[in-house]
Amino acid sequence: MKTDQPLLQSFKLGATTLKNRVVMAPMTRSRADNPENAPTDMHVEYYTQRASAGLIITEGSQVSPQAVGYIHTPGIHSAAQVAGWKKVVDAVHAEDGKIFIQLWHVGRMSHPDFHNGDKPLAPSAVNPIAKAFTSEGFKNTVEPKAMTLEDIQQTQEDFVTAAKNAMEAGFDGVEIHSSNGYLFHQFFNKNSNVRTDNYGGSIENKARFFFETLDKVKAVMPENKIGVRLNPSLNGVFGIDATEETIPTFDYIVERLNNYDLAYLHLSEPFTDVSDIDFLETEIAKHYRPKYHGNLMINANFDQESGNAVIKEGNADLVAYGKLYISNPDLVERFAIKAPTAEWDQDTFYTQGEKGYTDYPKYNVQAQEA
Ligand SMILES: Cc1cc2nc3c(=O)[nH]c(=O)nc-3n(C[C@H](O)[C@H](O)[C@H](O)COP(=O)(O)O)c2cc1C
Repeated sequence: MKTDQPLLQSFKLGATTLKNRVVMAPMTRSRADNPENAPTDMHVEYYTQRASAGLIITEGSQVSPQAVGYIHTPGIHSAAQVAGWKKVVDAVHAEDGKIFIQLWHVGRMSHPDFHNGDKPLAPSAVNPIAKAFTSEGFKNTVEPKAMTLEDIQQTQEDFVTAAKNAMEAGFDGVEIHSSNGYLFHQFFNKNSNVRTDNYGGSIENKARFFFETLDKVKAVMPENKIGVRLNPSLNGVFGIDATEETIPTFDYIVERLNNYDLAYLHLSEPFTDVSDIDFLETEIAKHYRPKYHGNLMINANFDQESGNAVIKEGNADLVAYGKLYISNPDLVERFAIKAPTAEWDQDTFYTQGEKGYTDYPKYNVQAQEA
């Protein structure tokens, strides 16, 4: 269908071409409720239903058993998980879709219940004072273990292995989850990183763990198949309290990412209202577009109109939709005919089974006109 909507134009992403600029944002859906935490046939169906997206980014997938922080999330560290993901990838490719996997380590947003009683890993022993969702329900987070240099190296190796596994499963690329208060973000933030070694203190030091990991990952896979996700103005959620150093830290990271030939940089607009905090940015795409010279993906609270507008204004190349993709598997087709979008059911975001997962219908023109 011929259209002048910016969202529906194709886009060259590294070595591949996306059929449109509508991206399915990474979303944890907690359906890997099997002992292996492997993707199942239900995951195959869920992602295939959404294959008309220009790009799918999978739910966060733990890079190791230590990286997990929520029940029933899939991993990308075991043979069974790779085999499960391969089925997902093959099915999405058969529908002419493209799919990246999000590589995830939650750091301190975990709980000893996931680690045989051991403390979760983090840059420093600072409790995020949050809730972890374990098999026994919500529990208070604990003071984590400050990572030793050995832990740092091992975790970086886990990302490398996960990236290799992703390539083996046939993914078009990986997204490093350095966003939303998880491990990398914990290193970036002054309140969660009080280290006095090379990984703490200065902005450069706080970014070191991330850039070292990125360098190691790019040694085992093409750089232009790696995406990076950041949420610069995150504040008051996921254990992150922003400080005056926050935006300078992200400015530094984003500018330094220009030295890489990444698939994309994925940014989120603020998750909460930060308009009364003068040291935070309220308009992330506008602030970072001039600073970043590669492909820029923007997310959070976009609809069809604002998505088309942000591309048209030149502030982003791609728009990632989260919740709209939960309830509209055919989001692209709906955009094409400007059909209304369906509401999502928050109660089934993280439940198990097909309800609220694979049972959202496609838009039915005839039913609507009848
Ligand atoms: C159910 C749910 C699960 C999510 N899981 C992840 C995740 O695994 N990784 C991630 O980076 N963001 C995750 N997010 C955040 C989304 O990717 C996105 O940033 C957020 O929903 C805002 O975009 P939206 O307004 O288009 O929904 C999740 C959001 C929702 C609603």
